[in-house]
Amino acid sequence: ALTACGGGGGSTTSSGAKLVNSGTLTVCSDVPYPPFEDFDKSAPTGFKGFDVDIVSQIAKGLNLKLTIKDSSFDALQSGLALNSGQCDLAASAMTITADRKKNLDFSDGYYNSKQSLLVPDGSSIKTIDDLSGKKVGVQQGTTGKTYTEDNAPSDAQIVTFPSDAEMYQAIKAGQVDALLQDLPVNLNHQQAGGYQIVQTYDTNEQYGLAMKKGNTHLVDDVDKQLQKMHDDGTYDTLYNKYFST
Ligand code: ARG
Repeated sequence: ALTACGGGGGSTTSSGAKLVNSGTLTVCSDVPYPPFEDFDKSAPTGFKGFDVDIVSQIAKGLNLKLTIKDSSFDALQSGLALNSGQCDLAASAMTITADRKKNLDFSDGYYNSKQSLLVPDGSSIKTIDDLSGKKVGVQQGTTGKTYTEDNAPSDAQIVTFPSDAEMYQAIKAGQVDALLQDLPVNLNHQQAGGYQIVQTYDTNEQYGLAMKKGNTHLVDDVDKQLQKMHDDGTYDTLYNKYFST
């Protein structure tokens, strides 16, 4: 049941949460970031992945249609995209951090993650200390970038890319010697062949769905749907689809 909301031509969910487009959950995501988000021409939304399945379930539970927009991760994590009304929610393997909480509200955590270092097969780099004098690729605005700045040797050259796709291209082209980013995404690159994860870092990160600061009704709606997915087994089914080992 949707009711029209005054001002801005938006609408609300039955709990009173504001939406940027009537009857639709509009989701922003930085794609590709497999296995969390990727393009899929054959899928109804045009996208696939763990995050995509999670938000599909949330939209269904809230009786909303789902639209997904490919966006810049940095604009998502800074709050810019959400606070300017480009979307209701960011589903982008985004770690909940104290800094981001200043500009955004987050759902409950829905995935535990770590950082990791990926190098080409046969590389002499075995640990983060071996990045001395080397080039390491990171994504703009990410926790992997911060981790690298805080932990890599001072003479490591940190090369920042707008997206994971560009990082992956750069390591393939030999423009960087290593990539430091979220473990599940580096695992995906390792599985594709030619690369090895040589170190993982237990950063205790939790991914959350980010929303405009102050849209507490939507946070409640989303948390209720996440809880329902845990209670009825949907969460486990989706988790095993992407992360079973
Ligand atoms: N988890 C990391 C962070 O929050 C990286 C997320 C990047 N996500 C993406 N879809 N590219 O900073």
